[in-house]
Amino acid sequence: MWIFFLHIRAWYCLFRSEMEVIAFLSLLITAVFSLSACVPHHYHFVNMNLTWTEAQRYCRENYTDLATINNKNDIEELLKSVNDDQVQYVWIGLQKTVSYKWKWSLGDPAFYTGNDSQYRNWAQGQPNGDDDCSNMNPGQWNDYECNNSLPFMCYRDSSKEYIAVNQTMTWRAAQNHCREFYTDLVSVRNQPENQQIEKIRNDAHITSGVWIGLFRDSWEWSDQSNSSFRNWRTGVPDNDGGNENCAVVWVNTDHGQWGYRTCSFKYPFVCHEDKLVLIKQNLSWPEALKYCRENHVDLVSVHSEQIQRRVMNVVQKASTAEVWLGLRHSCTMGIWFWVNGEILCNQNWAAGHRTGVDCRDGPRVGAVQSGGDHRWVRLPQTHKLNFICTNYED
Ligand SMILES: *[C@@H]1O[C@H](CO)[C@@H](O)[C@H](O)[C@H]1NC(C)=O
Ligand SMILES: *[C@@H]1O[C@H](CO)[C@@H](O)[C@H](O)[C@H]1NC(C)=O
Ligand SMILES: *[C@@H]1O[C@H](CO)[C@@H](O)[C@H](O)[C@H]1NC(C)=O
Repeated sequence: MWIFFLHIRAWYCLFRSEMEVIAFLSLLITAVFSLSACVPHHYHFVNMNLTWTEAQRYCRENYTDLATINNKNDIEELLKSVNDDQVQYVWIGLQKTVSYKWKWSLGDPAFYTGNDSQYRNWAQGQPNGDDDCSNMNPGQWNDYECNNSLPFMCYRDSSKEYIAVNQTMTWRAAQNHCREFYTDLVSVRNQPENQQIEKIRNDAHITSGVWIGLFRDSWEWSDQSNSSFRNWRTGVPDNDGGNENCAVVWVNTDHGQWGYRTCSFKYPFVCHEDKLVLIKQNLSWPEALKYCRENHVDLVSVHSEQIQRRVMNVVQKASTAEVWLGLRHSCTMGIWFWVNGEILCNQNWAAGHRTGVDCRDGPRVGAVQSGGDHRWVRLPQTHKLNFICTNYED
């Protein structure tokens, strides 16, 4: 049975970019993928009424921290973890600080590598004031009052596409529109992306400025995560002068939207456990595998682009030049595979490391370089390296 799945998965790799995948094959793929879909089990609902600071301490002692939310899927997962109908809202790890920073509406850290979330193309003298949203006009950015109405640029992550919307809305309404129909308001990570977005605005004959996803607030996550994803209820401003400095997620009414409360009030809360954990011990590959299976779920299998981006972010803090992945070579079948049974779809090998494995020389396993382009390399399994465990159930 496993070999059968393996075959289907290999086919899936081959046909991934082809339009003419025949219908029965996609049906099979759907079946296989729903069987092997990742179920993140990283949110833990705690049904005790504690202040925000007490809840934070509890989560840090028992899990990783109070919940961080990176995207819409995370909200759904968090809501699923709350198994009590009486609960109205729960604390999450978001707290107001005094430090205002510019951030992207598409706030998932996995979308960014290196410093590209910090790319800015402000017009001269900008940002110049107390405005918390930003527009592009033309090509260069200005801070602008969020309640103004402008056309805007959305981004669809599945097709890596920019969409110009020639309808004027406030920044928040534009954000809702983009999240409903696409992924989010656009993020601009570098100069080529800025040019491409400006060209699409121009091609759409939009003559005014357009909203982009850059906004400013002073909220920060308890675990120091850089997630700038926010999902405030309608009418709840990002930057409110009051003393309600801790965030809650509404569970029943306003399904998954966020509000804030006085931090010393007592509510139930949600903790999270990191999905990928860098273990800074130097172990051989078999020891690392054993460690992850005993203490987490498994050594990480990089079976999607999203996980690949998360891995790149995590390995930068490693103390060894390479970091073990759940990547292994089978001499019998002559292929590389992930320890969760998947064939390699996204490949990121350093030159000369994938092919020509000498099988007389003991098993070969895979690691990712912690610096540079984070390429994959093959090594004897006796090397002693840091490694990445996953908390995803597969
Ligand atoms: C966009 O809207 C402006 C103002 O309503 C209009 O002049 C322009 O023709 C529109 N462009 C397109 C492509 O519809
Ligand atoms: C968040 O971003 C800052 C600045 O880019 C970086 O120094 C820091 O390591 C990041 N934090 C995490 C948890 O990735
Ligand atoms: C692991 O190895 C690296 C590189 O040799 C070294 O810098 C680091 O201190 C080692 N870590 C531990 C926990 O031994």
